[in-house]
Amino acid sequence: MFTWAEHCQWLKKVLGASNVHLFIAEDGNKIVGEIRFDVDGEQAEVGLVVNKRGRGQGYGTEMITEGMKLVPAETYTARIDPDNIASRKCFRRAGFSRVGGEYSIHWIKT
Ligand SMILES: CC(C)(COP(=O)(O)OP(=O)(O)OC[C@H]1O[C@@H](n2cnc3c(N)ncnc32)[C@H](O)[C@@H]1OP(=O)(O)O)[C@@H](O)C(=O)NCCC(=O)NCCS
Repeated sequence: MFTWAEHCQWLKKVLGASNVHLFIAEDGNKIVGEIRFDVDGEQAEVGLVVNKRGRGQGYGTEMITEGMKLVPAETYTARIDPDNIASRKCFRRAGFSRVGGEYSIHWIKT
């Protein structure tokens, strides 16, 4: 668990990093979640969160597909907990496929 001060420190670092792209997703005037792209050369790692009440409505999939348009990369990767069915589903629908991994599944889109 992180303290609020630690979280603020982390956020400040993320917002100041030129290789990290953080987007807030909105539907109308409602915030539905956030998505982050950590860029390393031609590769970008994707991570996202959809607000609990907005899940299961396709936002996750759309955030990934729209986000990739905003952050062009040769390869996109994601680390997904094998038990995270919702995440597996929406990354698969966004064109990712599983490439292996022990504790988390490594997914890749080229
Ligand atoms: C993973 C996450 C981003 C998915 O967002 P979302 O907006 O719900 O995604 P989508 O609606 O595009 O797709 C989710 C799919 O999984 C399904 N699903 C959700 N929970 C499920 C479960 N426990 N078992 C089976 N299917 C499930 C949904 O029904 C939907 O499928 P459908 O459209 O065929 O019905 C969201 O659940 C989340 O923020 N989780 C917490 C953070 C997280 O795990 N982030 C991903 C790590 S990178």
